[in-house]
Parts: sequence; structure tokens; C-alpha cells
Amino acid sequence: MSLAMRYSTATLSLLLLRTVAVKASYCFYVGKNLTVDGSVMVAGTGEEVSGHWLQLFSAQDYPPNATLSVGVTEDAALPGKRIQIPQAQHTYRYLSMEYSDFEGFPAPLTNGGLNEHGVYVRDVWAQNREELVAMTPNPQAGVNYGELARIVMERARTAREGVEIIGRLMDEYGEATYGGNTHLIADKDEGWVVWEFAGGKHLWAAERLGDNDIRVLYPGYIEDFPVNFANSSNYMGAPHLVEFAIQQGWWDPQGNRSFNIWEVYGDTNNNATARNGGYKYMSQAELEDATRAMIPLNEKKLMERHRDIRIADDQSGYGQVVSLHEGIDPDMRRLWVASTGAVAAPFVPWWLGVQSIPPEAGLHRYLYDQASSEFLNTDYQYQEASEFVFRIFKRVLYYMCSNPHEYHPIVTEMLVGFENQSFIEIEAWVERGAQVLIDNDERDSARELLTYYSHSRLYKAMEIGKTIAAALESHVKLTGHWKTPRGDLINDGGSGNATVTCLVGLNPDRPKWDQD
Ligand SMILES: *[C@@H]1O[C@H](CO)[C@@H](O)[C@H](O)[C@H]1NC(C)=O
Ligand SMILES: *[C@@H]1O[C@H](CO)[C@@H](O)[C@H](O)[C@H]1NC(C)=O
Ligand SMILES: *[C@@H]1O[C@H](CO)[C@@H](O)[C@H](O)[C@H]1NC(C)=O
Ligand SMILES: *[C@@H]1O[C@H](CO)[C@@H](O)[C@H](O)[C@H]1NC(C)=O
Ligand SMILES: *[C@@H]1O[C@H](CO)[C@@H](O)[C@H](O)[C@H]1NC(C)=O
Ligand SMILES: *[C@@H]1O[C@H](CO)[C@@H](O)[C@H](O)[C@H]1NC(C)=O
Ligand SMILES: *[C@@H]1O[C@H](CO)[C@@H](O)[C@H](O)[C@H]1NC(C)=O
Repeated sequence: MSLAMRYSTATLSLLLLRTVAVKASYCFYVGKNLTVDGSVMVAGTGEEVSGHWLQLFSAQDYPPNATLSVGVTEDAALPGKRIQIPQAQHTYRYLSMEYSDFEGFPAPLTNGGLNEHGVYVRDVWAQNREELVAMTPNPQAGVNYGELARIVMERARTAREGVEIIGRLMDEYGEATYGGNTHLIADKDEGWVVWEFAGGKHLWAAERLGDNDIRVLYPGYIEDFPVNFANSSNYMGAPHLVEFAIQQGWWDPQGNRSFNIWEVYGDTNNNATARNGGYKYMSQAELEDATRAMIPLNEKKLMERHRDIRIADDQSGYGQVVSLHEGIDPDMRRLWVASTGAVAAPFVPWWLGVQSIPPEAGLHRYLYDQASSEFLNTDYQYQEASEFVFRIFKRVLYYMCSNPHEYHPIVTEMLVGFENQSFIEIEAWVERGAQVLIDNDERDSARELLTYYSHSRLYKAMEIGKTIAAALESHVKLTGHWKTPRGDLINDGGSGNATVTCLVGLNPDRPKWDQD
């Protein structure tokens, strides 16, 4: 196959995706029997255009009868109205990558993150069948995907509890939807996929993932589902989940087809199947197989899987990798975060015990809502004067992917080398030291140590990022490869068909430069 044909295969899959997906993001789940240290592991990206920033949320207490505003506005593709629901009396501490814009979904938004009880949640789109989406009331009301993820971080002590919390919210308020969404919720023991369906019918389904499971959501999916799920500890769902499908003629209890959630409630356009539909370069099945080929998994391997040029491109707002262990002090729970797609940025370790996020990883106007139509609020004068880590690594991405054959292997080696150094230091003194301090009742000092390390690692990453970008820039310019834009269209018109990726010119089935 010629290179041109290989490229067009990738472009075609991407075009196909863009007609289907309104919002994407990857999630990888690995059961604890498939990891080196027996932890449950999860990785993911957030594929949102908008500005992203890392934020720590401390635990909060609320007065009785406090409420929370949820839902979407009239600006959403499926318009809605915001409603008030009861706030919890107490919310837990969590770490989240926040983002600023998804049509009619009020900012700040989140795909999820990690809380002090070791519950990790991510959302991934999962479109529903057209008839169901068409049933969505106008205006619709309910809790939106980001709010569901946030509420799980705020209120859940286990993954199962997270599912029950979403279930109760779905039963009572339903989801304010853009067409169907899943959440992956995990803790040290297990994972769950929860699918909230469009249509305003309060429909949802959840499947437990066990010790030997690998699940990649892109999009999210659930397949065969027991009709008598109420009696199973591995499934949960809306009480009318089966009955509604029968009433609509979407499933025949007398027929010979099993009750398959994807087939009954999912979007099967273009004959899409659960493990082979709606994807970008690799199907869910291929991603799961590629992950399984790496067992036993550890964090380094999951970073490598996630950093694949078929996964992490310019659409990837950030990357995360977490392993969820038994018996970890809440301050010691660790989340690896790459500031923009992990293909171009190193993972930096953050602990729940970290006391602050440096301004450089905080909110900036780059890609922020309204930034091009309003001047800066003076309140943000200092914040905006600080450098922005996401912007640094976008520069690395754009130069690197201008000549991936030469630059990608070198940059990858440097990013991995940087992470290797972090792994060594964490094991040698950071976590060991923090644990000793905690054991000796010096929790504040432990938190200072963790804060010091995360901050200095971020600053070091920025320094390296700037050095790499400068080196690539020099190489591009000095070798005559700089290209001035030919036109005046700096945005892609929302088509997503011109995304910067390092996959250009490569066969997605074998994305290695050794194929030449
Ligand atoms: C763990 O996985 C291995 C294969 O990787 C399998 O042989 C073994 O039975 C599993 N153990 C448990 C407890 O499920
Ligand atoms: C909370 O609401 C209930 C019923 O609406 C009311 O009886 C009660 O006084 C309220 N409590 C507070 C502290 O406002
Ligand atoms: C669950 O089990 C009980 C008794 O074991 C049975 O009466 C009930 O019908 C079952 N429910 C479902 C939904 O299968
Ligand atoms: C299922 O039933 C249909 C007719 O209702 C039949 O044509 C088909 O062969 C059956 N499939 C299987 C696998 O039994
Ligand atoms: C879906 O599958 C059917 C039966 O195999 C085929 O006739 C049809 O062309 C397929 N549609 C698409 C969009 O691929
Ligand atoms: C990183 O560490 C792994 C072993 O954990 C090693 O195989 C790899 O070569 C190292 N890479 C770099 C760039 O240091
Ligand atoms: C992207 O799509 C738009 C609209 O469909 C089209 O005008 C444009 O030429 C496409 N760009 C590329 C690079 O394919």
C-alpha cells in the first residue's frame, strides 16, 4: 500500500468519527489481576477543544438544605434549563482537570479525576440510537455528564457507591444530555461502566468490570446484559430498562437475540458494533488487545500505550494515568497528569496531599471561552502573566508532528527519560519520606514534601519542554522546513479533519517508521 493510501485510510476513519462523535475522550481500564502490583489501573484523555487547567478541590461542608445548580442552558445542541438539586452535607477532596467549554454546558467542566477515597472517574461519550435522542424534551432538565463526574468525586467512597449515586440522580432527575454518555468509575477493587441514555426517560445501565478485565472506551459501551439484572451484584440499571426497550419494539423477549445494551440503546449506524464502531484509528477491540498484549501492566506501560500516536494527538487536551491500591493514605494517592496530549508532554505526579497547583498549570486564556472577544479581567493580571504549561507542550506537539519520522522518536525518549527519573525519585525518597513523616505524625511536613516535589517536577518539565521546542524550532528553521500558512483559516471550521497528528503518512495498523 502506498503512503498516500495509508494516509487516506486514517483520514477516512477520522472523517467517519467526526460525523458521529460530538465529544470524545479515551478511557483504559485494567483489572487488578493484570497489573504488576495488583492495583486497578486507569488511563485516559480528555478530547475537548477548550482551555484546560489542573485544580485541587478541598473537602467542604454545606449547611442543611444547600442546593446545587445542574443541567444545560438553552445554548446546548439539545437545549435545556438549569435546575436546583440538593447539595451533599459534606464533599470530599479531589483533583481534577477542569475545562472551559462544551456547547451550552456551563464552565467549569470536568471529565472526572481522583478523590481522597481513591475513587477515580472519567466520562466518555457514547451516542444513543436516533429515536431515543429524538425523545429528549425541549427544554430538557437533569444532571450533565461533567456534573455527574464531579458529584461522584465529591460523594463516593467506592466505585460501587459512585454508580449508586449516579443511579439515584438518574432515577430522580435524569441526565441533561448531548446524546448519550458513559462514566468509568474505578477503585482499588473494581471498575464500573455506567451508561446514561438520552431521551429524558431516566434510563441508565451499569456493568461491573472485574479483576481479569480490560476495557477501552472510545466510545463507551456495554454489551450483553442480564434481563434480571436486579438480582446481580455485577449489574445495575433503571428499573424500566428492559420493559422500555420491549415497549419500543427495540428488543423482543421472545426472539433469539440476547439483551445487548449497545444493540438496543446504542447508535448502530454504519453497522457500528460495540467494540468496532465510532473510533478514530484503532477500534475498541484493537485497543483492548494491544493493552492485553502488555500484561502485566504497570504505570510506565500504560503511559506508553496511552502515548500511542493513534491515540494522543492535538485533540487530546491532557493525559492521566492512575493506579489504585489497597491501604493508601489519602494524602498519598497519586495521579499522573500530562499537560496536553501525552504524545508531546511528560506525565508529572500529583498527590492528593499536594497543597496547591502552581499558576503555570492553572487557568489561562489560551483556548479559553470568549478570550478572542474580550480583554483580560485585571483580577487575572498576575495569573495571565505566568507561563502556561499547556501552551509550551502544544509548541512541542506542533514542531514534533511537522516531521514525526525524525522528531517523534527523540522527543518520546526524552519524555520517557524524564518520567523514569520521576519514578526513581518517587521510590527513593519522595513517597518513602512522605510516608515516614505521616507515620511520625508530621502530616503537614509530608504534604509540604509532596507539594515541593510536584511543583518542582512541573517546573522542570516546563524547562525541558521549552528546551525541546527551541531545539525543534531551530532545526525546522535552519534546515529550511519552516512553512508559512498559505491561507487565512487558522481554525478548522469545526470539521476536525485537519487535526495535527504525528500519524501523518503512516499506516494506522503499523505506526512505525521502520515500515519504510
Ligand atoms: C489471573 O490471570 C491469570 C492469567 O493472566 C489467570 O490464569 C488466573 O486464573 C487469574 N487469577 C484470578 C484470581 O482470577
Ligand atoms: C430545610 O428545609 C425543610 C423543608 O423544606 C425545612 O423544614 C427546614 O427548616 C429547612 N432547614 C433549614 C436549616 O433551613
Ligand atoms: C430476584 O430473585 C427473587 C427470588 O430469588 C425473585 O422472586 C425475583 O423475581 C427476582 N427478580 C428478578 C428481577 O429476576
Ligand atoms: C433467530 O430467529 C430468526 C427468525 O426469528 C431466524 O431467522 C434466525 O436464524 C435465528 N437465529 C439464530 C442464531 O437462531
Ligand atoms: C450494514 O450491513 C448490511 C448487511 O450486511 C449491509 O447490507 C449494509 O450495506 C451495511 N451498511 C453500511 C452503512 O455499511
Ligand atoms: C525507562 O525505564 C524503562 C524501564 O523501566 C527502560 O526500559 C527504558 O529504556 C527507560 N527509558 C529511558 C528513555 O530512560
Ligand atoms: C475540512 O473540511 C472542510 C469542510 O468540510 C473543508 O472545506 C476543508 O477543505 C477540509 N480541510 C481539509 C484539510 O481536508
